Amino acid sequence: MPLVAFVSPKGGVGKTTLAANVAALLAARGHDVLALDLDPQNALRIHLGLPVRDEEGFITELGSGISWRAALRQTPYGISLLPHGTAEPRRAFELIRLLMDRPEALAEPVREMLADPRRIVMVDSPPGPSPALSAIMPMMDLAVVVLLADAGSASLIPQIADGSFLGRGTMAARAADRSVLVLNQVELDMPLSTAVLDCAQELLGSRFAGAIARDPVVAEALADRRLPVEMAGGRAAEDLSILAEAILGRLSLPPPTPQGSGHSVLTDWGMRR
Ligand SMILES: Nc1ncnc2c1ncn2[C@@H]1O[C@H](COP(=O)(O)OP(=O)(O)O)[C@@H](O)[C@H]1O
Ligand SMILES: [Mg+2]
Repeated sequence: MPLVAFVSPKGGVGKTTLAANVAALLAARGHDVLALDLDPQNALRIHLGLPVRDEEGFITELGSGISWRAALRQTPYGISLLPHGTAEPRRAFELIRLLMDRPEALAEPVREMLADPRRIVMVDSPPGPSPALSAIMPMMDLAVVVLLADAGSASLIPQIADGSFLGRGTMAARAADRSVLVLNQVELDMPLSTAVLDCAQELLGSRFAGAIARDPVVAEALADRRLPVEMAGGRAAEDLSILAEAILGRLSLPPPTPQGSGHSVLTDWGMRR
């Protein structure tokens, strides 16, 4: 327990970036973090420092009878990772069908992952509704909805408020109650950015969980195979730390094991050893 998912009606908004950095910050605090990538882009592994050539994964093996434990990777950030894996188009369609016909193929192993009360399962997801996200939605304790602070996003905030972007009916409405919004790539000197911030705060109240500054360090860090939170002094790094704190505050967790277990390259919020 608990299950936290980074979701969005849109792609390219920072779901993977935020999921990777928050996961690393929570692991640096001594929490047991298992990151699960549900996105066929299979990008979380790149953010978390796995070799580019390692293309095997957990989701691409669903239905084959292989245990999720066998697909686990250890990352340099002290996070266990279940990569999505790379799939040919035909296999990608088969996986969609499998998840639509038999959501238990994913729900059951995720339930096993959540059985450990100390473990935080942190999910990165593809944009919009997907059968993989639907399969785990009933177990989701917190959905962190990521949007950019632009006009397109502002028009989607009502869908975030009522949960309709996650699907239809009662389950989507229930998931909405457990969702918070984060605006990414905010620029305070741009009137549009601040107008979207105001709109989100007004419509969502306490379900507005924070803002992350647009920061060129974010793209540079990925090119360098590092996380922005490892680069001290970046504007986004501080915001990511505040976001990680806000997310922790919404979860009920036993206290973490003390830091310094040696497996993390982050010693404190955003500080490199
Ligand atoms: N706060 C930020 N400042 C600048 N660039 C960012 C920021 N957050 C994300 N990006 C960049 O935006 C792009 C999309 O981010 P990504 O995490 O892959 O989005 P998603 O997972 O939603 O598709 C990447 O190139 C990433 O480096
Ligand atoms: Mg992504």
